Amino acid sequence: MVKLIGHKKVKTAVFISGAGSNLKSLIKFSKTKKSPISVSLIISNNPKAKGLKHGKRNKIKSRVFNFRKKYKIENQILAVLKDCDIKMICLAGFMKILSSNFITKFKGRILNIHPSLLPRYKGLNTHKRALDNNEKYSGCTVHFVNSKLDSGKIILQKKVKILKNETKNSLAKKILAIEHELYPKAILKVFNL
Ligand code: GAR
Repeated sequence: MVKLIGHKKVKTAVFISGAGSNLKSLIKFSKTKKSPISVSLIISNNPKAKGLKHGKRNKIKSRVFNFRKKYKIENQILAVLKDCDIKMICLAGFMKILSSNFITKFKGRILNIHPSLLPRYKGLNTHKRALDNNEKYSGCTVHFVNSKLDSGKIILQKKVKILKNETKNSLAKKILAIEHELYPKAILKVFNL
């Protein structure tokens, strides 16, 4: 559990790679009174990430890093996080794998959202694999990040039913909509609120 010190919101960085719809929902949540976090920084590995527009719109500092030299870049990111007094990280559609050195520095303070009912379907192409296996349900999971891919302690999950004519796009859309509700709920749970 992450502790709140006084009544100050915990400065949080959101890491993205693409559309940023989870980022958008986290920004909206962070502006509510009940939120224990404030989104203070956005990190993207992709300069073309559409989600970066949410940073601009909301006047939140954004930084883009090219992950080709991962270890060097991670050290630069750690320096920026320190500079911005970031105490917590939310991965939201961030498609790069962080090193265990990085994760250790924020142990217990990095969350991720994943579009499947973990431990099933870790990694990529979750919706296609769930459909190919004729699953009756899929969903999403918010979990702590540890050094193994999509394997940290689960905080919250939500299920959706897979319908007869479901396609990977319809399933992705349906799951994304519940992700936007689940992530804020998981954050409240992490703070014991
Ligand atoms: C979301 O479905 C998220 O769960 C998934 O990428 C999408 C990002 O959407 N994340 C992963 O697959 C991470 N392994 P968004 O950019 O609109 O938030």
